[in-house]
Amino acid sequence: MTDGKRTPWVVGVSGASGTPYAAAVIRGLLAAGESVDLVVSRASRLTLLDETGIAFRDAHWRDDLAAWLERGADGRPVTFPRPELDDVRHWSAGDLAAGPSSGSYPVKGMLIVPASTACVAGVALGLSKDLLQRVASVTLKERRRLVVAVRETPLNGQTLRHLVALDEAGAVVLPASPAFYAGATHIQDLVDFVAGRVLDAAGVPHRLYRRWEGELGGASRPREASGD
Ligand SMILES: Cc1cc2nc3c(=O)[nH]c(=O)nc-3n(C[C@H](O)[C@H](O)[C@H](O)COP(=O)(O)O)c2cc1C
Repeated sequence: MTDGKRTPWVVGVSGASGTPYAAAVIRGLLAAGESVDLVVSRASRLTLLDETGIAFRDAHWRDDLAAWLERGADGRPVTFPRPELDDVRHWSAGDLAAGPSSGSYPVKGMLIVPASTACVAGVALGLSKDLLQRVASVTLKERRRLVVAVRETPLNGQTLRHLVALDEAGAVVLPASPAFYAGATHIQDLVDFVAGRVLDAAGVPHRLYRRWEGELGGASRPREASGD
């Protein structure tokens, strides 16, 4: 919130593999006291179903989002305070009249997590084929922070050119590429590393991963013992 006025981050979830990244970013934003406007692309409902078994329904988005946020990357439960969902607003991907489709709607910026190559192409070319891509175009034209957590491997030349175009347009291109220096011992640690880097790019404080402190050997220290 800013001056008592709700100023959310828009989280766009597109149809790349990596729905646990989106859950970790949303949990991190809410834990930091940020508001969230959520846009879930049509294709991402397939990846969410495939990766979590959750069928995301616009009409029941709050229940489905709660189930998503309460599930860790390994399928085990994650503690998530449900009242934090009060600070989430959901917009249907087909709703091109939604609030964030206009630059006059107050938002801090947009985090696309994960970003498919189709989404990268659409945003780089300014297609605005759905609300997610429209909000990304608006974010760029308003010179707000846009973070694009692309997930694909290998990358073809087209996507590489689109990523350069996004970088030149002012977006932060952030490959969903976990690192191993932070002492990861579980899948969730790797997910939280990427989510933490997304929050870093947005300037949102968090404790999702252990930062590099200039000393080799940290990866073999368990996170619990590090005081993190
Ligand atoms: C199970 C599944 C996994 C997918 N994983 C990826 C992926 O990791 N990266 C990617 O670029 N596309 C992936 N796709 C393809 C995208 O979903 C597809 O290109 C879609 O058109 C993206 O649409 P959107 O950007 O509007 O969400 C996947 C599709 C499915 C069904």
